[in-house]
Amino acid sequence: ELYNFRQIGADTKVYGVIGNPIGHSKSPLLYNAAFKHVGFNGIYLPLLVDNVANFISTYSSPDFAGYSFTIPHKEDGLKCCNEVDPIAKEIGAISCMIRRPVDGKLKGYNVDYLGAIKAIEEALGASSGAPASVSPLAGKLFVVVGAGGAGKALAYGAYEKGARVVVANRTFGKAKELASKVGGQAITLAELKDFHPEEGTILANTTSVGMKPRIEDTLLPKPLKHYALVFDAVYTPKSTTLLREAQEAGSTIVYGTEMFINQAFVQFERFTGLPAPKQLIRDVLARNT
Ligand code: ATR
Repeated sequence: ELYNFRQIGADTKVYGVIGNPIGHSKSPLLYNAAFKHVGFNGIYLPLLVDNVANFISTYSSPDFAGYSFTIPHKEDGLKCCNEVDPIAKEIGAISCMIRRPVDGKLKGYNVDYLGAIKAIEEALGASSGAPASVSPLAGKLFVVVGAGGAGKALAYGAYEKGARVVVANRTFGKAKELASKVGGQAITLAELKDFHPEEGTILANTTSVGMKPRIEDTLLPKPLKHYALVFDAVYTPKSTTLLREAQEAGSTIVYGTEMFINQAFVQFERFTGLPAPKQLIRDVLARNT
């Protein structure tokens, strides 16, 4: 149903997701179904890879048109690019690599943050009434909890959209370093508990706190103060303690799963140059999770 092998030929574009382990990845299912749906002549493979540099140089002829990267290869992937997008360079990790048809050079991008930012913008946009050209994040206070890969991604993404960024992190030095890069403010986790959100403030948890099995854990005070919107990058469980508390406090909530779905839309569009079949991608994921 999902593949149409009779279509594979010399013109077929080959993509793959590089990771280790890779068996759990939903990406092959998702992209193959989406390629077929829009009539794109491509195929997308799961690639169990130990050494990224060896793998990529082995396939250095323009066999692969692009790669996605997953755990633990997002940092190694960056080192194998011929060119890196400036935001991916700052984040220190890539989520995809695209081969430029003209010269075969590999360019790395990080679209993880675009996934989360897009999901947050859509959730806010739905209730703000601002013109589509202005991000609903512009001018807003945006609190990022965590300063690892995901924290950096969210902080740069929010900064790019004109938000005023606050970074809260257990290791304060990392909060300070990230905050200084996005013209923001660094706070400690203790200060986060006392933090008073102004109207319209957005809160994004990018730490693993609240993830299964320690689902009761949270870095925020209980009951939670009122934030306009709360995003949690944790998606196991889908509804975290933080998101439940946020909903009770009257905040709009955005699930961690939305980050993955939205980055799949963005990546599909980069790979194919075609608009992503959003409903199909949502359906394939819903049927397979
Ligand atoms: P990712 O790429 O998913 O962001 P990471 O780079 O390992 O993962 O970053 C994990 C983030 O979660 C860090 O900000 C980490 O805080 P430190 O910088 O102090 O290590 C934060 N984190 C993880 N476990 C935590 C815990 N139990 N309490 C508070 N912060 C935690």
